[in-house]
Amino acid sequence: MTSPPTDLVHRLRRHRQEHVLTGWDQMSRAARAHLVDQLAGVDLAELDHLYTRRDEPHTALPPRDRIAPLPVEPPTETAVAIGEEALRNGEVAALVVAGGQGSRLGFDKPKGLFPIGPVSGSTLFRIHAEKVLALSRRYGRAVPFLVMTSHATHADTVEYFEGEHHFGLSPEQVQFFQQGTMPALDLATGKLLLEKPGELFLSPNGHGGTLTALTDTGLLPELKAAGVKHVFYFQVDNPLVKVCDPAFVGRHIETQADVSSKVVFKDDPAEKVGVLAEIDGRCGIIEYSDMPPEMNEERTADGTLAFRAGNPAVHCFSVEFLERVTTGADRLAYHIARKKVEHHDLATGETVTPEAVNALKFELFVFDALPLADRWLAVQTTREDEFAPLKNAAGNDSIDSCRRLMTDRARRWLTAAGATVADGVAVEIAPTFALDAAELADKLPPGLVVDEPMYFNV
Ligand code: UTP
Repeated sequence: MTSPPTDLVHRLRRHRQEHVLTGWDQMSRAARAHLVDQLAGVDLAELDHLYTRRDEPHTALPPRDRIAPLPVEPPTETAVAIGEEALRNGEVAALVVAGGQGSRLGFDKPKGLFPIGPVSGSTLFRIHAEKVLALSRRYGRAVPFLVMTSHATHADTVEYFEGEHHFGLSPEQVQFFQQGTMPALDLATGKLLLEKPGELFLSPNGHGGTLTALTDTGLLPELKAAGVKHVFYFQVDNPLVKVCDPAFVGRHIETQADVSSKVVFKDDPAEKVGVLAEIDGRCGIIEYSDMPPEMNEERTADGTLAFRAGNPAVHCFSVEFLERVTTGADRLAYHIARKKVEHHDLATGETVTPEAVNALKFELFVFDALPLADRWLAVQTTREDEFAPLKNAAGNDSIDSCRRLMTDRARRWLTAAGATVADGVAVEIAPTFALDAAELADKLPPGLVVDEPMYFNV
């Protein structure tokens, strides 16, 4: 390729982005092909549109009288048999989203490789994979394990799974698929930012990119053809998640929900979590940053927060619903975030490390699919039981708090099973040893005393 393709040049000119071709003549053949390839995946008209809308709110919240607290079911075991039957029939897949860059944690590999196990040092990926393995053994059917990566995490993730022999899962059971990317724009000018000459600055397109990637990669039709009817969605950074929880999946099936969500009640208005609510008669999320202060503080007659249905990002989607929201006119819209982006400056030929916000980044959020559901379900769970997010190196939702929640739950299960656990002793239960408190109780010898750190593993 000696000169850039004419149609590309026209397209770039039309959108005032021809600066990205600067230095073309000095680029190698491979570098040129790479740039053309990157640009082929960029929708310049959409970027123009997003840049024009940069000061508008994503969605304006309607007035208070069109918003109501979302009814939330208490956890129930009534539909466990339905969920178990679906697992036995191969109708449920587990999907972990692991494409994020984990910038707050400051770990130099994908977050899934973080050794979070308080005693074993097991990584997040190992813990999740062992849950899938334990479920597959329990129900006598391989549960498909879908791992969504991004260009930032894909190679390391696949290499890690291969090196660990897929943690005992069969390689065919684990399906990796990559989410899409989005460029960043210079805030002041709307120009595409470059990572280096001839290389666009690209980031993963947000966890909502899962939905489009499922279709764009052809995975969704494949799953459907294999008989999968429901997809259990969770985030890589929550080691306590009850993957494919049969009670939850069972209620999801029983109520014929398009999407079901777990909810962790918020009891402190200061807790920075998005809440599920009924907005114009549909299920939606009010992000913490969009929550009007008076609604955030509003309480019901019994003193609890009126809007307390916190979102731990655990959902079950019906495959039919996923098809609808990824192929029709219902596609999700990008959120616009103002960020500091280190980039290559063509004028000076240097890397710029900005002191202040200098760029717009664009992300899809998975919960934007919720208002598209015609039937939905919300089921309560607790932080202690099921939500230990690993976001930060220290402080809230940190390595320490995550390990503490893991140990505390293991301790509760052990105590309920009749064991005595000495104060301050770290304990951990491998999912392949016990997936829940009842299974642990079946396996423990009577009168067990734990007075040193212990990892219960097969
Ligand atoms: P977060 O929004 O917490 O982002 O992702 P993060 O990448 O883990 O961490 P920060 O914000 O950079 O510190 C929540 C979940 O969504 C996934 C993450 O991997 C995590 O499981 N995610 C996020 C994606 O899969 N893709 C994305 O583009 C963004």
